[in-house]
Amino acid sequence: MDLARSAPLLTTYWPLAVAVGAVVVGHKVWKYLHERGVNLDLKRKKSVSFSEKVETLPQDSKYNISPEDEDADNFFVINEDVPHIPYKPNTYSDDVMIKRSLEFYECLNNRRSCRFFSDKPVPLEVIENIIRCAGTSPSGAHTEPWTFVVVSNQETKQRIREIIEEEEELNYRKRMGQQWLQDLAAVGTTWEKPYLEEAPYIVLVFKQVHGFSIDGARKTHYYSEISVSISVGLFIAAVQYSGLVTLTSTPMNAGPKLRSLLKRPVNEKVLVLLPVGYPADDATVPNFKRKPVDEIMVHI
Ligand SMILES: Cc1cc2nc3c(=O)[nH]c(=O)nc-3n(C[C@H](O)[C@H](O)[C@H](O)COP(=O)(O)O)c2cc1C
Repeated sequence: MDLARSAPLLTTYWPLAVAVGAVVVGHKVWKYLHERGVNLDLKRKKSVSFSEKVETLPQDSKYNISPEDEDADNFFVINEDVPHIPYKPNTYSDDVMIKRSLEFYECLNNRRSCRFFSDKPVPLEVIENIIRCAGTSPSGAHTEPWTFVVVSNQETKQRIREIIEEEEELNYRKRMGQQWLQDLAAVGTTWEKPYLEEAPYIVLVFKQVHGFSIDGARKTHYYSEISVSISVGLFIAAVQYSGLVTLTSTPMNAGPKLRSLLKRPVNEKVLVLLPVGYPADDATVPNFKRKPVDEIMVHI
């Protein structure tokens, strides 16, 4: 071949040659894979909404899906028709603020998780007010994705204890690893939960995986786990301020049975269980120290 004469031709047509080559090779690869049953779906995957995802899941696995999976771009969906009203909350001088914040800290710093309860009755109105406090929590797009089930009926408390202890015995004996059991040793928990029958109230906090709008359509709940957790924090603070005690507990693997016992709908999942009442006269707690503020706060 006369290189001197073919050089300008190569310079002009090499992109075309590369493109033709790529198509030929690509077709051969596709044919090879296709003949072997490999499905080359090059189309963009259809995006599936959260509701559709929940709908297509088997009943029990609906518990495992969280709205955090949903597209966070839709987060700010507060109804545009809601009018805005003036907001003038109480404000204080610096001195008063320092005093009030310190008093509130001292109140909360006295809080401890209590595992020994008295059966002394507590007025239902106190529990109602505590739940009112929890219901003031912020929530993603104001969805308020929580349900507080208050149990004072003795037989139901006993059944809750049976369900939880049955699972906890398995959790402690088989499901929790050695490290987990070692970490719990200082807390002093076991699979046995007599307080579930002793405390006058058990409050089960359900996270609503999705809600319903007025017309019955499914309503997505954004960041529901964070919202419900914040509301539980307010609940715990209100219990403390009222002069009662509670225990934050997470009934591992007992959720579906508890939901069915309490006849809650499938869109609700048990997040935490909180017995509420007075502490037993001989109640004890592990002598834990809390981290000082300079270890938990970074000021930039
Ligand atoms: C998410 C969460 C789950 C918890 N689960 C349990 C539980 O299942 N059983 C239990 O006895 N304590 C449980 N606790 C309580 C902790 O053990 C307790 O908060 C910790 O030991 C610190 O003690 P304090 O609450 O007295 O400060 C839980 C606490 C949190 C925040």
